[in-house]
Amino acid sequence: MKKIGVLISGRGSNLGALIEAQAGAPYKIILVISNHEDASGLLRAQAAGIATLVIPHKGKSRETFDAELDAALKNAGVEIVCLAGFMRILSDGFVRGWEGRLVNIHPSLLPAYKGTQVHERVIAAGETTSGASVHFVVPELDAGPVIAQASVPVHPTDTPETLSARVLEVEHKLYPAALRLLADGKVKLEKGLSVFS
Ligand code: GRF
Repeated sequence: MKKIGVLISGRGSNLGALIEAQAGAPYKIILVISNHEDASGLLRAQAAGIATLVIPHKGKSRETFDAELDAALKNAGVEIVCLAGFMRILSDGFVRGWEGRLVNIHPSLLPAYKGTQVHERVIAAGETTSGASVHFVVPELDAGPVIAQASVPVHPTDTPETLSARVLEVEHKLYPAALRLLADGKVKLEKGLSVFS
């Protein structure tokens, strides 16, 4: 049973999906950390009886903030860290320290559409397909090796909101599935690649 820490900044719908899927899964979420005290995802965690912590980033250097995160995760005994709508860039030092044990979900078919404003850019480009990716986190933003992806159609009438809702639905299945693989040791980060067994 792998002990999971989840980092959030907002509503935490992916956190909710990870919580719902944990019965019978090879992972247990033991700590949820937010950099915003008003993140509604904290309430989801508390409702599920999971310990929560707020670590504000304001007024701190990136290194100080990341050191606080790192200490809190290690003190709790966290083995795998999941980013779920966590809107802070992590320092290279933090990322290297958790290499192979740090994953993120991104609302595009990576390597396409890294960064923010994804759905706006997908629609503006006239794409007919989009999706979501769970990937290992490496120092370069949204550039880590993919663990799992799922696609959705983009309709001509889509707005960023309708597309986001469609992508979010597949995110909620994809993230628990990818975390199960990782917790089971069925996927590993080796020499910069996702290796499946
Ligand atoms: C999701 O679309 C995720 O892919 C992205 O941020 C959003 C977080 O949503 N990284 P939620 O907080 O999990 O509801």
